[in-house]
Amino acid sequence: MQEQVKTGVEGLDSILNGGIAADASVLVSGNPGTGKSIFGLQFLYEGVRRYDEKGIYVSFEETDDDIRGAAESVGFSEWAAFVEEGDVRVYDKRGMLGEETFTAVIDALLDDLDGGGYRRIVVDSLTMFQLFFDDEREKRTYLLKFVDILKENGLTSLLINEQGAVFPETEIGLENFLTDGNVYFIQTPTDSGVNRYVWVAKMRKQDIDTDIFPMEIGEGGITVYERAGGFSMMGRNGSVF
Ligand SMILES: Nc1ncnc2c1ncn2[C@@H]1O[C@H](COP(=O)(O)OP(=O)(O)OP(=O)(O)O)[C@@H](O)[C@H]1O
Ligand SMILES: [Mg+2]
Repeated sequence: MQEQVKTGVEGLDSILNGGIAADASVLVSGNPGTGKSIFGLQFLYEGVRRYDEKGIYVSFEETDDDIRGAAESVGFSEWAAFVEEGDVRVYDKRGMLGEETFTAVIDALLDDLDGGGYRRIVVDSLTMFQLFFDDEREKRTYLLKFVDILKENGLTSLLINEQGAVFPETEIGLENFLTDGNVYFIQTPTDSGVNRYVWVAKMRKQDIDTDIFPMEIGEGGITVYERAGGFSMMGRNGSVF
């Protein structure tokens, strides 16, 4: 049977029939504030806490203090200790943006990873590729290379993809060519706040439930509820929402 890596979000692991295929790259998309980063933090945090698997968090947008703050805001109280012990490696924007070229970024990462026993990586977010490449084709080429390198190093990855609209074509159609899996986080406004949902649209080599499931963010991070129903992607006039 295909080896699987648990996401650390129990409801989601059930939807995935166990987790993500080991060494897979999963594109995680959603609008701002939908929970993409928290999902990434949870993947790494629970990876260490429950499954004894070490992980890497690469951020091009935040400092390690911001990242720790986000982790602690959802009750990942041992985050700082995990980082201290090297069970979670954080590459924050100060470290990453210091590198001149993409290849230098990768080389620095690989040097560090060598023999470190890391199993999980979160890249928050792929917008970083915009920083290094203007040309679409070049960007795609390097993105594919990058994904290959992650696989070769035995890393299961979450690649976070920022999204402006709810279901847009992303600029370079990442989901169409890049990854082994696609997970979307969705929020819709309500009178009192937002309703949150998660949708696993694709997971290569796996039998998955492709319904949209409700979820919440709170203490302990993301909770996914395995009751679908009551939610349709299409409005009555056929428009999305
Ligand atoms: N302790 C908490 N309880 C409830 N909700 C929380 C808590 N901490 C954070 N949130 C919510 O989580 C959301 C932030 O999630 P996150 O930072 O993962 O979003 P994101 O998709 O990464 O956004 P961006 O694209 O801006 O980076 C916010 O909407 C915030 O309200
Ligand atoms: Mg984020």
